[in-house]
Amino acid sequence: QTVEMELESIEKGGFEHFMLKEIFEQPKSIGDCMRGRLNAETAHIQLGGLINHLEKLAKAKRIVFVACGTSWHAGLVGEYLFEELARINVEVEYASEFRYRNPIIKEGDFVIAISQSGETADTLAALELAKQKGATILGICNVVGSSIARLTDAGVYTHAGPEIGVASTKAFTAQVTVLAMIAIATAKAKGTIDEGEYRRLLSEMAAVPQKVEEILKLDADIKDISKLFTFASNFIFLGRGINFPVALEGALKLKEISYIHAEGYPAAEMKHGPIALIDEDMPVVFIATKDSSYEKVVSNIQEVKARKGRVIAIINHGDTEVKNMVDFAIEIPTSHEMITPLLASIPLQLLSYHIAVLRGRNVDQPRNLAKSVTVE
Ligand code: G6P
Repeated sequence: QTVEMELESIEKGGFEHFMLKEIFEQPKSIGDCMRGRLNAETAHIQLGGLINHLEKLAKAKRIVFVACGTSWHAGLVGEYLFEELARINVEVEYASEFRYRNPIIKEGDFVIAISQSGETADTLAALELAKQKGATILGICNVVGSSIARLTDAGVYTHAGPEIGVASTKAFTAQVTVLAMIAIATAKAKGTIDEGEYRRLLSEMAAVPQKVEEILKLDADIKDISKLFTFASNFIFLGRGINFPVALEGALKLKEISYIHAEGYPAAEMKHGPIALIDEDMPVVFIATKDSSYEKVVSNIQEVKARKGRVIAIINHGDTEVKNMVDFAIEIPTSHEMITPLLASIPLQLLSYHIAVLRGRNVDQPRNLAKSVTVE
């Protein structure tokens, strides 16, 4: 027993929980994911697993992402990336829905499974169905040699290293990193981005590990904020554009490990329901970085403040406009809009982690949840 406990504390590398260790590993895991694949100096992306498929992918009429849970949120980020950069039609499907719906698959369609474990039963079955129907099937997996990795025609490993915490953190950011690399490489092959934009995206990607490192320095501040919201019974997370899936993932993280009821919504859709819930007891987390939807998000924040909601906002450094408007601001570095999910999701992971710990929850093994769901 004691030997086991000691072993576990060594594995946690001085952190109190695996989840916290994995959150702090992200500068490295994101770097590992890009290593040997993306080089900003030589302006080069090479994804070994996709060498024979990139040309076809650039011609794809449609990409369908199939996934579950956090991996499904990565798929939603992928939708924004591929549509914006590579101008390819994307659908993001819950694997469990896709597999029972007699989905329409046409020649030239790509079905891409996103799965940390590579063993999720629904995702595996969805992929088998897509294969039967003649799609090219690809995988974005973390576990090397997993069932999904073996079934697919080709794919890209996330190389995030083993993830022990049930709530996914570093696997999610690695999935988004892979999706961004594939989208950029596809856009380049297709000619939907020019050389300048291509180079800018690569150098912004290369800068992510350093920026994540900077965000992790906010841990103590985020813990302080968490203390004030430990006993909240509800939470709303709002974002727009490519940060809408970040809001969904922020809400999922919080509910998984703290058992606080949390909902993620597109910020504008709030008017069609969740706004009825807002009063002085409702914490609302906004992703309000300076991107193309910034002005719109600012007016959504004003709507929440007018109803006395308590707002925590993820903003860019030096944004005094939003800072003066909200109760708590968490300042992160600026980046290319298409890359902000990799930065904006980090403070939300820390917020969930600290709230859950303060509530005395078992953050690494939340009740009723499994790391890998291998049955329907
Ligand atoms: C479970 C895990 C989640 C994960 C989901 C999909 O619900 O608790 O963290 O996102 O399965 O798992 P996968 O291994 O396919 O990414």
